[in-house]
Amino acid sequence: MNFDAIIDRSGTRALKWDDPLNEPGKPDILPLWVADMDFAAPTEVTRALEDRAAHPIYGYTREPKDYAETVASWYRRRYGAEIQAGDVCLAPGLVPSLGIAVRSLTEPGAGVVVLTPVYYPFYDIIQSNDRALIAVPLGQDGDLRYVIDFSAIDRSLEAAAEAGHRAQAIMFCSPHNPGGRVWSKAELDELSAFCKERGIAIICDEIHADFSLGSTPFTSIADRAGSEEPRIVTLGAPNKTFNIAGLHLSHFACAQKETLARVKRGIAAAGFSQPNIFSIEAAYAAYRSGEPWLEELIAYLRGNIDYLVDFAETRLPGLTAIRPEGGYLVWVNASELIRELGLSNDAELVRLLAEEGRVRLNPGSKFGAEGSGYVRVNVACPQSLLIEGLERIERWVSARKKGA
Ligand SMILES: Cc1ncc(COP(=O)(O)O)c(C=O)c1O
Repeated sequence: MNFDAIIDRSGTRALKWDDPLNEPGKPDILPLWVADMDFAAPTEVTRALEDRAAHPIYGYTREPKDYAETVASWYRRRYGAEIQAGDVCLAPGLVPSLGIAVRSLTEPGAGVVVLTPVYYPFYDIIQSNDRALIAVPLGQDGDLRYVIDFSAIDRSLEAAAEAGHRAQAIMFCSPHNPGGRVWSKAELDELSAFCKERGIAIICDEIHADFSLGSTPFTSIADRAGSEEPRIVTLGAPNKTFNIAGLHLSHFACAQKETLARVKRGIAAAGFSQPNIFSIEAAYAAYRSGEPWLEELIAYLRGNIDYLVDFAETRLPGLTAIRPEGGYLVWVNASELIRELGLSNDAELVRLLAEEGRVRLNPGSKFGAEGSGYVRVNVACPQSLLIEGLERIERWVSARKKGA
């Protein structure tokens, strides 16, 4: 696969490229934000979609008989997790499925913990389902690497319980978006033991599972259910892995029979009974034939991350990139640059970079108050585009400094 190929996405209604600041027909803002990739999906996926589209009747569709086994064998082969076909069930896109998990495992008014900063829809899913958000900051070590602060969680649990919102679940992101942590087996064991002791269920979003880039292998929390406690449900999807996010399909994997039964009732209550006709064809083809493509992709992403980290170190003083252990999103501490340029916050930096520098990033504060002063950079694009984006940032910073 040629990941260097530049594929024009204009005219495809791409959320990432169709920027409101672009003049019509002139997509000149380089988008290093929305978490999809500017790479063609595996050929087998495109072929499966074309084949299905060629048949002109697009009626209700069953999943292939061995789909659950295909997913389960992915967990066993890629993550070393002992998941069986009967532990897997199909679900709509991952974000709607987080809502299903919250409604299945917690009661209205109960507390749901998130460790911040975190993927921003977590906040909304919890609150719009009438659960109380318990936001607990992650700790950071000397290299700005995020760590779970169990005593901080305990303090927040106590305060929430006093306010009448006893915690019933934690919504956990593994690997972590935006911080790029691939949680170690030891950390996940500690989290499970902590939640078991306190009767808290774990809803674990593993959508970035397939992009473990550093020395820590990804560990799925899906199969650590020796018993029914703590309740653990994991959510996975082919969406990020194979760049088919617009097809919106996910799955639950849960080795606990009673918990899985609750989730299945929740899926039924949400009215989901069959997958979208195209998403199931794409996902099936991807899980069966996409592995060689994925291996090449991971090698390419590592190259892009190295490039970004090195560029920030040598040419972008004031920006400190945290090398991700997993995922293609790089969390960058911009607080020094914000201060040097006399800006008020990361949102202003991101706005000016888009308006004047013609490159768009995500503002860190969108991921929670602890993300303020940060920006998030998506490196899943041909390296020449990444270089162009970084050079635009460099030129804009230097012009600003001269003007300042
Ligand atoms: C942690 C995490 N969960 C879920 C999603 C989106 O899932 P979906 O598009 O299947 O709803 C994303 C996309 O960026 C993500 O980063």
